[in-house]
Amino acid sequence: MTPTLRDFAAHADYALALALPPLQEPPLELHRAMHYAVMGGGKRMRPLLVYATGSAFSAPLERLDAAAVAVEIIHAYSLVHDDLPAMDDDSLRRGRATCHIEFGEAMAILAGDALQALAFEVLTRETAAGIDTRTRLEMLRVLANACGSQGMAGGQAFDLGAIGQRLDANELERMHVYKTGALIRASVRLGALAAGCTDQSRIEALDRYAHCVGLAFQIRDDILDVEGDAGQIGKTVGKDAANDKPTYPAILGLQASVAHLDELTEQALAAIQPFGESATCLRDLARFVAERES
Ligand code: IPE
Ligand code: IPE
Ligand code: MG
Ligand code: MG
Ligand code: MG
Repeated sequence: MTPTLRDFAAHADYALALALPPLQEPPLELHRAMHYAVMGGGKRMRPLLVYATGSAFSAPLERLDAAAVAVEIIHAYSLVHDDLPAMDDDSLRRGRATCHIEFGEAMAILAGDALQALAFEVLTRETAAGIDTRTRLEMLRVLANACGSQGMAGGQAFDLGAIGQRLDANELERMHVYKTGALIRASVRLGALAAGCTDQSRIEALDRYAHCVGLAFQIRDDILDVEGDAGQIGKTVGKDAANDKPTYPAILGLQASVAHLDELTEQALAAIQPFGESATCLRDLARFVAERES
């Protein structure tokens, strides 16, 4: 990761810590579980996309914070629920016990619920000041669509429904585009909205970029589940095969998955070519997604 992206990630950590409810206020256990889910490491990929998109329009970071925080909080909630016994039944996340192992299932479910509500509240707070009300409403709509039944939650339903099935390439792509792609696309869209971008051709170019990066991100995740190092990815390796999940490596094979990942990365880079120098961070992020080891 480049120094600028590392600075963005550190800034996201700072903004996230400020947005969470105080640890010393009751209900203590719920607040502890929420902090545990959000502050326990993570690459902060979605905030990075918000900041990188905003920086393509020279927006100051503070103007982008609410969007970056909101989307990462939704992501953190999605991971807590994804790891539950009724879903992927995982015990390791970000190199430590998953939220339900640490706090119990009921508290993990509630932490997810409360985080989801918090994400939307953050977009209405004063920290999102400077962004007009109409734009804020549009941001709320974008985030709601991305995490609902036609976004992340819908993708998780496709995922669970596909256990033990043999999906074709189109069904597999749809599942990935929903479960992971939707929040990644929303990150880019929120960054553009918060930065005040109204140029339709730029918005469409960014959307093509985000579509490709989102799909590439989940393909890399599937590949790392096969050939990653547990110590480095901080998750149990081989979990998809153990749970009989249809993934890119399972359906296309490893080599074809890597080739498709490279193709998507090229398409993502081509989409933002007209942005020139201003899209340096977005370019670095697309490459990072393809090459990441964790
Ligand atoms: C993991 O996401 C779940 C997917 C959507 C593939 P990340 O790889 O972004 O997880 P963290 O936030 O860095 O832990
Ligand atoms: C998760 O996909 C997508 C989410 C919406 C959270 P995975 O189930 O592959 O994510 P990991 O591998 O557990 O992080
Ligand atoms: Mg899953
Ligand atoms: Mg999982
Ligand atoms: Mg995975």
